[in-house]
Amino acid sequence: MMVDKDKRKVKKDGKRSGKSVSDRNGIIVLKNLTKKFSENVVLDGISLTIEKGKTTVVIGPSGCGKTVLVKHLIMLLRPSSGEVYFKRRRIDNLDEKELNRVRTRFGFLFQGGALFDSLSVAENITFPIRQHFEIEDWSQVEELVKTKLAMVGLEGFQSFYPANLSGGQRKRVALARAIALNPEVVLYDEPTTGLDPIRADVINEIILKLQRELAVTSVVVTHDMTSAYKIADRIIMLHHGKIIADGNDEHIRNHPHPVVQQFINGQVNEDDLAVLRASGTIFQAQFLPRDFEE
Ligand SMILES: Nc1ncnc2c1ncn2[C@@H]1O[C@H](COP(=O)(O)OP(=O)(O)OP(=O)(O)O)[C@@H](O)[C@H]1O
Ligand SMILES: [Mg+2]
Repeated sequence: MMVDKDKRKVKKDGKRSGKSVSDRNGIIVLKNLTKKFSENVVLDGISLTIEKGKTTVVIGPSGCGKTVLVKHLIMLLRPSSGEVYFKRRRIDNLDEKELNRVRTRFGFLFQGGALFDSLSVAENITFPIRQHFEIEDWSQVEELVKTKLAMVGLEGFQSFYPANLSGGQRKRVALARAIALNPEVVLYDEPTTGLDPIRADVINEIILKLQRELAVTSVVVTHDMTSAYKIADRIIMLHHGKIIADGNDEHIRNHPHPVVQQFINGQVNEDDLAVLRASGTIFQAQFLPRDFEE
C-alpha cells in the first residue's frame, strides 16, 4: 500500500540530501512571481529558490503577503504571472487533479488550520491518507498514527477528541496530520502563534527533528523571531511585494535596511505612528462596563 512506498521514498531522499546543498538542489523554484488581487499587487516579481532539506523562514509585517506567497508553493493560489516549479516540473499550469498528486508530497499547517472537532485524534491524522489512498491494511495505518504521535510527543492520544486537548496539543496533532504522508516539504504558516514560549519551542524542536531525521524541507512563516533564529537556515523578509532581505540569522540581525531592523526589534515605524497620531484620542468611557457608571 501507498504508505509504505512513501516511507521508503523519504528515507532514500533523506540520504541524498545529506550531501552539501547547493543552488541546483532547489526543490521549489519561483520565477518572477507576481500576484495581484484586482489593483492590489501583493507579490511583485518574486524569484526564489527553496533549497532541499533546508528550513526557509519567511518574515514580514502583517498583510505583506507571506500567506499568499506560501499558498503559491502548492498552487492554493495561482500566480497572476510568473512560474512555479516543484522538482524542476512546472506546476502553475497543472489542473487540480494533477496538483492533488503533487500536493501529496507536501504537508501543510495553515493559519487557523483547525482539526475536525467530530473526529478523534487518530481520525484527524489519517484524514489525508483516507482522502488520497485506498487503505488495504488498517494495521499499517494504526502503526503510522502511533509513529506520528510519538514524533510530536503525544503518545497514546489516538482516541482523544480536539475539545479535550490544549491549544498546544491541538497544534501538535495538526502537525502530526501534516506529516502523515511523509511529505518531502512541510509548509507552516505561523505554527507558534498563540502558544506559550515553551509550547512554541516544542514546535521548533519538531521542525528541527523532521529536518534532521527525515531530511524534510520546511518553509515557515512566522512573526516569532526567537523561533526564526532557532530553526532557520535562511530567513527571507517580504516588504511591499518584494524580498528586501535574504540570508542567515546573522545576516538578518545585521541587515542595514531600517525596515528589517524595525521588524526584528519589534519597533513601530513612522508610518504606523502617523496613523495612530491621526486617529486622535481614544474615548475611554466607551470601554467601561456599565457597572462602573455611578
Ligand atoms: N483571496 C484574496 N483576495 C483578495 N485579497 C487577498 C486575498 N488573500 C490575501 N489578500 C490580500 O493580500 C495581502 C497579503 O495577505 P496575506 O494573507 O498574504 O498577508 P500576511 O503577510 O500573511 O499577513 P499576516 O501576518 O497578518 O498573516 C493582503 O492585503 C490581503 O488583503
Ligand atoms: Mg498570513
